[in-house]
Amino acid sequence: MTDLPRGKFITLEGGEGVGKSTNLQFITHWLRERDIDFVQTREPGGTPLAEQLRTLLLEKREEAVDPTAELLMVFAARAQHLSGVIIPALAAGKWVVCDRFTDATYAYQGGGRGLDRGLIAELEQKVQGDLRPDRVLLLDLDPVIGLQRAATTGEADRFESEQLVFFEKVRAAYRERAEASPSRYAMVDAARPLAAVQQQLADILETIAAAP
Ligand code: TMP
Repeated sequence: MTDLPRGKFITLEGGEGVGKSTNLQFITHWLRERDIDFVQTREPGGTPLAEQLRTLLLEKREEAVDPTAELLMVFAARAQHLSGVIIPALAAGKWVVCDRFTDATYAYQGGGRGLDRGLIAELEQKVQGDLRPDRVLLLDLDPVIGLQRAATTGEADRFESEQLVFFEKVRAAYRERAEASPSRYAMVDAARPLAAVQQQLADILETIAAAP
């Protein structure tokens, strides 16, 4: 049996209201047009168990959620998602397009909740081994604008109900990671008109597809 080349693993990240859904549609359309076989998935979620954990994480509740409990639930969902969906797809040579992944943990649990990045890095290594996204597409937007956009799209979940200062920390953490590893992150200024954002995304996708 010939070894298939591993598929490309790309993730889409950003705070609330940055336009992830619209741009995901653009990305999957771009892949379909080129006959690239891919799996579209999301975190937290992507398998029945991980989707149940997502519901537990996102629903608003009376009880205050301990940040470490939140972190462990995120990684529990991720472990299931990796073994059930992501790793098999990549091994079969498919691209994996994931709406959020571990960068969201660094941004939300690390930046937003203030948890120790070292602990996140330890869990990342335990759960993922050396697997990291090939490319992280970060939609960057001032949270003042993001929250205005998100306010028009249905009832707020437990994360969306956080205050502006939380989302400022989330954005800062994302940007810090992107600036530290510019070869793995593509920072996309999501404040620009959609056509400009999507032109940049198309250029990035071309580069990913051309890479060995
Ligand atoms: P979304 O996919 O609709 O943006 O919702 C997922 C929410 O979960 C979002 O508010 C960010 C949050 N989240 C974390 O806090 N940590 C994580 O590791 C991930 C993947 C998501």
